Amino acid sequence: MTFLELLPGSVVLAPMTKGCNLPYRRLCVELGARITTSEMTLARRLKQDRRAEFALIRRAPDEPCFGVQLAGTNPDEMGWAAALVEERGASFVDVNLGCPIDYFTSKGLGAALARQPRRVTRIVEGMKRAVTKIPVTVKIRLGWKEGHRNHLEVAQAAVDGGADAIIVHGRTREARYRFAADWDAVGEVARAVKVPVVGNGDLLFGHEAEAARQRSGCAAVMAARGALIKPWLFRECTEGYVDVGADERLAIYRRYVALALEHWGCHDRGRGQVAQFLRWHLGFWCRYAPRRADGTWPGMQERESAEFARTPLERLLGRQDEAALTWLTERLMTDEAIDPDAAPPPDEAGPSAPETLQVEG
Ligand SMILES: Cc1cc2nc3c(=O)[nH]c(=O)nc-3n(C[C@H](O)[C@H](O)[C@H](O)COP(=O)(O)O)c2cc1C
Repeated sequence: MTFLELLPGSVVLAPMTKGCNLPYRRLCVELGARITTSEMTLARRLKQDRRAEFALIRRAPDEPCFGVQLAGTNPDEMGWAAALVEERGASFVDVNLGCPIDYFTSKGLGAALARQPRRVTRIVEGMKRAVTKIPVTVKIRLGWKEGHRNHLEVAQAAVDGGADAIIVHGRTREARYRFAADWDAVGEVARAVKVPVVGNGDLLFGHEAEAARQRSGCAAVMAARGALIKPWLFRECTEGYVDVGADERLAIYRRYVALALEHWGCHDRGRGQVAQFLRWHLGFWCRYAPRRADGTWPGMQERESAEFARTPLERLLGRQDEAALTWLTERLMTDEAIDPDAAPPPDEAGPSAPETLQVEG
């Protein structure tokens, strides 16, 4: 099935720098994801033939529908890169109009590009001319900052250039993750443009994804941090909520290690890479919390205390301190049994995991 056929009602794995590494995408596919997206890839670096950038556009054979997200400001270069990723097996190609990081916005990329709607039109036109059959999508935010929202204008500019779908992250660049996503604004785009809209922001549970989709009138929704915290989110969205216990979580984390070793290799260098990614992912996995005992749901924007932990293993998996994350990484890298009683006491430095939440593309 093509991207546009699969899209209605789907929960799409969002593009995420570092988070959308190939083995993690495979894990999400095994846990129900049908549409996956790459990490942000710079068209310029592809043009420069940089190997690390080419690694980002590689599709795993078991990915049913894989999109590559490109960042660039030059219509010809973006067209060239779109044709390249199509030839390399991408099912759709997306334009990054949301990256908030100064390093990129100072070069006119990401959220800075969204301040130039006419250029957005030209870029999408260039990409549409260059590809033969895959759709071109754009991923936008609501604008640069409050008082300067331009989501309707940018969405229309992209559609004018021929965009086949629009993805809307319901926050401004300035807001980062400080406020809840504005799904009413996402819905405005869904009503305004004639192509399917994919809404994005704060989805952590299956019922939230469906409610957000219906309320906003979007064709589909997209999950980023929710999929990093619980890769089984996709399964939950189709099969309903399941309280995933600590043993099952461990089995999922071990599966990631197996997929990652397959990808980076079992030699010293590969194992080093795997350990680095694993440690990073543990920084998100430790944020998992199930439905509360009183039937209410933890929210993406709140930090649930580890007090829900029902078993010593659950308590260990909820720890966010450096000592626990390092200890778990070492054990998951081997088949060693994980005995929560043998874990080190929490270190003085306190939680280290929240830092990982500052990372965004
Ligand atoms: C670790 C991380 C990396 C990200 N990298 C990208 C990226 O490369 N491209 C992009 O468009 N958005 C990126 N984002 C933003 C997400 O795709 C998404 O728009 C945002 O996190 C809001 O969705 P959420 O509330 O489900 O997390 C990243 C987010 C995170 C947490």
